Amino acid sequence: MTKGNSGLAQAGSNNIYNKASSGIEIVRILVAGGAGFIGAALCEKLLGLGHAVVCVDSLQTGSAQVVDRLGAFTAFTFLHQDIAQPLDAGLVGTVEQVYNLACPASPRQYQQDPVKTIETNVIGTRNLLELARIARARFLLASTSEVYGSPQQKPQREDYWGNVNTTGPRACYDEGKRCAEALVQAYHTQHQVDTRIARIFNTYGPGMQRDDGRVVSNFVTRILDGAPIEIYGDGRQTRCFCYVDDMVEALIALMTSECVTPMNLGADREVSVVELAHLVGRVLEKPVTLRVAPALVDDPRERQPDLEKCRRVLGWQATTSLEMGLLKTAAFFARTQEHSHA
Ligand SMILES: NC(=O)c1ccc[n+]([C@@H]2O[C@H](COP(=O)([O-])OP(=O)(O)OC[C@H]3O[C@@H](n4cnc5c(N)ncnc54)[C@H](O)[C@@H]3O)[C@@H](O)[C@H]2O)c1
Repeated sequence: MTKGNSGLAQAGSNNIYNKASSGIEIVRILVAGGAGFIGAALCEKLLGLGHAVVCVDSLQTGSAQVVDRLGAFTAFTFLHQDIAQPLDAGLVGTVEQVYNLACPASPRQYQQDPVKTIETNVIGTRNLLELARIARARFLLASTSEVYGSPQQKPQREDYWGNVNTTGPRACYDEGKRCAEALVQAYHTQHQVDTRIARIFNTYGPGMQRDDGRVVSNFVTRILDGAPIEIYGDGRQTRCFCYVDDMVEALIALMTSECVTPMNLGADREVSVVELAHLVGRVLEKPVTLRVAPALVDDPRERQPDLEKCRRVLGWQATTSLEMGLLKTAAFFARTQEHSHA
């Protein structure tokens, strides 16, 4: 591939794979990161709604099995591609909406290669924005509550500027996303790209990876296995957890809204990490053993979205209770465990 000024490669890349051989002309919605946890659920929902979806994913943390499963839809196309590399110019003209979810979300995964995490957020987002500009497509960035860093106000409203350590271990992600937001805003004001910024708070559910190091997958799988749970620090740090199907609905609602300013998406029931461990144990009716481990560097103490804007503008709120969501997540992990042992 050759790179033009626009960050798009010449058309005709041969790594587009479409089981239905229907070509990329049918493409309407591009989902970058569509082989990942939230991205796959989003692709499935969009396909179910009758849209054509092209998933662009490097499979850094995404799953080839998910791609195979989505390949059952004739309107699904997969492009194995790093978004920080020039994108296939053949995509231009075929896409009306671009969702950018491409970036590892688990601290363990995004800290493995911090330079790559920054490149994905900055160069990758820029490449996709350039594609959206040329294609005149609407663009949505999956940003994060991490842009608020270790917040000094609660709940966090969209007009709070945040409290981020620019050189800590989380900076590659937090500052990467903050720069991605700045880029989205710059493309909106300078190039009139029709943009959306979703600030996603902790999201969990079926489709997470067992060993991704995220708190829900970690607690559910360890309690199912009868293993002790490590609590970092005093365990009183709080989070709010949104079920993945609710998040997918919110992302689609934001994309189809007229709101061009950042919007918090998530659930606002606040639980501490220790409370979550005991809640998982109660829901699964299993004993819970806690082990204290050193606190993580820059681990935010509190995290709770102010959701007034998304209720008012989107008329959306999460409907899955944490108890129900944890049950469904546990059922998923129990099922996948059985398959891996079969
Ligand atoms: N899950 C959450 O709780 C949460 C919270 C806040 C924000 N987000 C954001 O939502 C998005 C999706 O999160 P997730 O939980 O599904 O993460 P995930 O790690 O499961 O999925 C990310 C996907 O992006 C792909 N990817 C990573 N770098 C890429 C690159 N350079 N080029 C192409 N593909 C690349 C991965 O292979 C993977 O399929 C991320 O942008 C994340 O920052 C998630």
